[in-house]
Amino acid sequence: MNKQLLVDSSGQRLTLGVLLGRGGEGQVYDILNTSNVAKLYHNPVTGSKCDKLQVMCHGVSPGLARIAAWPVSLVSEQAGKVCGYIMPRVEQDFAEIVCLHNPSLRKKAFPTTDYAFIVHAAMNCAAAFATVHKENHIIGDVNQKNILVNSKAMIRLIDCDSFQVSGAGRLFPCEVGVPEYTPPELQGKSFGHVLRTCNHDNFGLAVQIFLLLMMGRHPFAGIYKGANSPPVSLDESIKGYMYAYDRQALSRHEISPPQDAMGFQLLPTRMIEYFERAFGPGSDAMGARPTAEQWRRELGALLQSLVTCPAGHKFPSHVHSCPWCAPSSAIYFEGRTLPKPKVSASPANNAVPSPAVAAGTGATAPVQGASSAVNGAAGTGTVPGNGGSTGQRSPIIKVLGSLLEFAVRWIVYLFLMGIVRGIISALFQ
Ligand SMILES: Nc1ncnc2c1ncn2[C@@H]1O[C@H](COP(=O)(O)OP(=O)(O)OP(=O)(O)O)[C@@H](O)[C@H]1O
Ligand SMILES: [Mg+2]
Ligand SMILES: [Zn+2]
Repeated sequence: MNKQLLVDSSGQRLTLGVLLGRGGEGQVYDILNTSNVAKLYHNPVTGSKCDKLQVMCHGVSPGLARIAAWPVSLVSEQAGKVCGYIMPRVEQDFAEIVCLHNPSLRKKAFPTTDYAFIVHAAMNCAAAFATVHKENHIIGDVNQKNILVNSKAMIRLIDCDSFQVSGAGRLFPCEVGVPEYTPPELQGKSFGHVLRTCNHDNFGLAVQIFLLLMMGRHPFAGIYKGANSPPVSLDESIKGYMYAYDRQALSRHEISPPQDAMGFQLLPTRMIEYFERAFGPGSDAMGARPTAEQWRRELGALLQSLVTCPAGHKFPSHVHSCPWCAPSSAIYFEGRTLPKPKVSASPANNAVPSPAVAAGTGATAPVQGASSAVNGAAGTGTVPGNGGSTGQRSPIIKVLGSLLEFAVRWIVYLFLMGIVRGIISALFQ
């Protein structure tokens, strides 16, 4: 293919810029002097793929355009052979959603985020799924590379040409999938001939939400407690509906969540029930899993319910004490001092339990009132994850104090040693 001689659907010549990314199916290039990019396939575009792209280009709606890099025009070689499509560019501040799941990646990609940001991103992700479903399409290949998020918790879906698309009286399948996000009923099946449903997508969505809210833990990555040989892979656990956090998981499947997993009680009861409906036995029945719109509403309610601790962490009000203030939680979020807190933490209240046991315990830390702020908007300047309440000594003053104490001790020690030596030499002279 001669990249200098490509045209769009109206015959307009394209001037390609830099290569932005590549995958198994194609390469994505910037188109100079536009806000668009072009995806060029590695292999020739077949008849039905070409029809699918055409239907997608005609079916783009304002709602889809807001949340997805939806095809807007075909790309052809000058001989008329279709070799790709044009879509809006997703700007560079968007990162793959895995950067938000994983606490250590998150600290690099989104250093100022807090729990509110994560809930907000999860809510927007559910809203994006709801938009696709409303237009009668199915994402199908839900995975952590096709969902991007930026520092405003906005979501963009890419690789849309792999979606299951309805239009012009036809249905174009989604022929690919990733086991970690594939529901039990589709595990091991050949995707090319499967009719995908919203209920299938709603499994993948629930996994995404779980990974976000549970700091990168997969819902089916549990600890097997049984005497028989444990399941060997995540796919098999999914296939067996072995959801590790189910309230009956131990009695039903002899599995439990990993010991160091975050306390599940951090989630509102309704969400705990939602996850059981999404992952448990019976979830394969048509419409059994919570819909994207239901998740969007629940996550919105959770976002509204968040409160702020004196160190600036956001956490759900039903938990009573801030789970992120515990020293063991420093891996999740940094604390940050808030301007003039109305209530300051007493030393006793700094000793909050670790997230694994935080919820439902009597220990309460004062909160600073409800907040729906996102993007870490509240507070400035980070304090190393020590629950830094105001009125505490700064680390530099602490170090200087320790050095002074150390020096005074040595002076006293040497002084006493001198006296002892003097007494001994006086006695033995
Ligand atoms: N609209 C876009 N704007 C900017 N970059 C994009 C856009 N779409 C895709 N990319 C970049 O190109 C890469 C490959 O795109 P895409 O996932 O569509 O290719 P693919 O060949 O279908 O991949 P896969 O084999 O994973 O399905 C993406 O990971 C991303 O980095
Ligand atoms: Mg693809
Ligand atoms: Zn806190």
